[in-house]
Amino acid sequence: MKKIAVLISGGGSNLQAIIDKCASGYINAEIACVISNNPHAYGLERAKVANIPIKVLNHKNYASRLLYDDELSLFLEQLDVDLIVLAGFMRILSSKIADYYYGRMINIHPSLLPKYPGLNTHEKVIQNKDIIHGVSIHYVSSELDAGPIIAQGEIEVSNYQDINDLIKRIHKVEHQIYPEIIKYICDDKIYLDIKKIAFKNIKMNKSFIYKKYDL
Ligand code: GRF
Repeated sequence: MKKIAVLISGGGSNLQAIIDKCASGYINAEIACVISNNPHAYGLERAKVANIPIKVLNHKNYASRLLYDDELSLFLEQLDVDLIVLAGFMRILSSKIADYYYGRMINIHPSLLPKYPGLNTHEKVIQNKDIIHGVSIHYVSSELDAGPIIAQGEIEVSNYQDINDLIKRIHKVEHQIYPEIIKYICDDKIYLDIKKIAFKNIKMNKSFIYKKYDL
């Protein structure tokens, strides 16, 4: 069984999906710790309910990004996990930590990368009247939201009035596709081989997994 750490900053609905899929045995992993930079993140309560150890590393207590990342790195090193899962962790990591964990750290981002890296992706989709939107799961690299893409989930967009509805639909996609990809990684079916992602016995439709959701 693999050991994973999940890093959050907020509500933790993705964390919940991962907790549930570990508990059911769908993902063959144990969550060794949930780490948050935000002491008030609701996701910490979700972890406590599931009896998962938590760790708060509040960035406000560190004088620089590097000092924070050093502390985070030290803690992750002690945990000795196989995979680090960023699930709504709203901090940019320095290249030192991103390079060190390259291939062992993944992130979910609410856009079809390389479109819309960074914040406010849903607003941008609405402003530009995009007809598709989605989520991307990628290995974390030193460049923001730009590491090798493992999978994307796409939805069609037609109602440009209701951003909350769009966010809700994107969350639903995330809660399906993120546990699925984590499962594959924990089963050694997906891994980073030098700079290229290896997919073993997995159906591919682009150079990565690409799914359309009717949600
Ligand atoms: C998700 O939309 C994720 O894509 C983004 O942050 C959000 C986190 O949501 N990186 P939650 O905390 O998992 O509910």
